[in-house]
Amino acid sequence: MAINKNELIQAAAKAREGAVSPYSKFKVGAALLAKSGEIIGGANVESASYGLTCCAERVALFKALTDRKGKDDRQDACPTFVAIAVVARCEGGPMPCGACRQLLREYAPDAKVFVADSGDVKKIREFTVKELLPKAFVIVP
Ligand code: THU
Repeated sequence: MAINKNELIQAAAKAREGAVSPYSKFKVGAALLAKSGEIIGGANVESASYGLTCCAERVALFKALTDRKGKDDRQDACPTFVAIAVVARCEGGPMPCGACRQLLREYAPDAKVFVADSGDVKKIREFTVKELLPKAFVIVP
């Protein structure tokens, strides 16, 4: 399917407005594009117990998975994700952390990854999930 990366980055920028980041003050937004065409947004949520913080990418992914957004015809099937966009106010855009790369590798293995600085959303850097986490740990159930 054709991917409009500008539209997906805009959706991530919009989702970023939902960030709950009172500790770091660093707001991150993510937007997942499902094969169905649905776009699911998420933003980072922080905890006073810092390690419990959840990144924007994982919030978007967990929302999409548990709401069965963009799901396959089979009830038990995982949705197929074609891309994820991530936006934050940092030079070149935020690169997904290791934990998010692992989850994306498991649930969105064929997705493209677009990142952009919220201060310069026209400059989009592009990667693939497999490129960001080569030789990943996977178990075939
Ligand atoms: N964060 C994300 O949401 N995504 C990333 O890819 C990296 C980091 C969040 C976690 C935390 O709330 C804040 O950014 C600072 O680390």
